[in-house]
Amino acid sequence: MQRWTVDLTQTGWKSAPEVPAVCRALAEGNLVAIPTETVYGLAADATSSIACAKIFAAKGRPQFNPLISHLPTLEAALEHGDFNDDALKLANAFWPGPLTLVVPKKASSSICDLATAGLNTVALRVPAGPVMRFLSSKTDAPLAAPSANLSGKVSTTTADAVAADLGPSLSYIIDAGACSVGVESTIVALVDGCARLLRPGGVTRDSLEAVLGKPLVGVSASASQDAPQAPGMLSSHYAPSAAVRLDATKVAPGDALLSFGPHPLPGAGNACAEFNLSSTGNLTEAAASLFTALRKLDASGAATINVQNIPENGLGEAINDRLRRAAAPRD
Ligand code: TXA
Ligand code: MG
Repeated sequence: MQRWTVDLTQTGWKSAPEVPAVCRALAEGNLVAIPTETVYGLAADATSSIACAKIFAAKGRPQFNPLISHLPTLEAALEHGDFNDDALKLANAFWPGPLTLVVPKKASSSICDLATAGLNTVALRVPAGPVMRFLSSKTDAPLAAPSANLSGKVSTTTADAVAADLGPSLSYIIDAGACSVGVESTIVALVDGCARLLRPGGVTRDSLEAVLGKPLVGVSASASQDAPQAPGMLSSHYAPSAAVRLDATKVAPGDALLSFGPHPLPGAGNACAEFNLSSTGNLTEAAASLFTALRKLDASGAATINVQNIPENGLGEAINDRLRRAAAPRD
């Protein structure tokens, strides 16, 4: 595995000598870990079933859950999916950004059947993270990329976390620092005239509904555990090795503590490790450090991670969705 560290504040990064090498690796069907604004992605050429098969093998995904294909522009996305008016409204309002649209797949799309798990719909996203967008435009191919973590484990928001999970499977890992959003994209399906929220994420329900001018149907915040709507939304997901206890009201000696806000829980001083997602109670800041926090607290070796209550509004819906999955009974 080779590592390419990109400084996005330097305008010359697109002409770095690593660019042709990374494009060649992708064109030859190899895996490259690429940062996006949400989480790091385990990317491969979405038009190659051999390349996509390597994604499933590297992650150890138990079944072929469909993958999100990343594109540089809405125009490129229109080659692969049929966008109705609602889909166009959302794409125009939130792309590039942390939103994935599931739309009917065009018969002429070059995205392989393995990437869509044989479905007649396709998940498309134009990310705000410039590296994924740039590489998809350079290779002239949609890039399939699930989160770059072992299946069922916590997603990754830093290159070091990716290397720890997947290093040997990668040709390249591109390090552009920590992801700014920190939770995965929101997934909305626009099929059969209805707009359905399949997964809460980086774009909030309120802002989607404001653009659509109507409520989203489907998965409510609490129902999503029992009724997975996206095939890959297994209830036990994002699982650290430690048990996760939600809405903790106190901390037992030796437990780890994931706190939120300015008011410490009773017994917080007993925790063997603590991470405060945002001492000011800011949900954007909390989302950005969620997965790093879970990985750090898990590394403390504590048997249980206690989680302080986090409000359900705005990005809190996505944060609590991930925490409920982390706490769900394991297979
Ligand atoms: O932020 C993100 O979305 C990240 C970055 C890398 O872009 N990617 C990501 O991918 O989270 P992944 O594979 O971890 O989650 C993709 C989800 C899965 O739950 C999958 O079942 C769902 O998208 N999905 C993909 N295609 C679908 C389809 N045609 N219909 C319904 N759900 C679909
Ligand atoms: Mg994932």
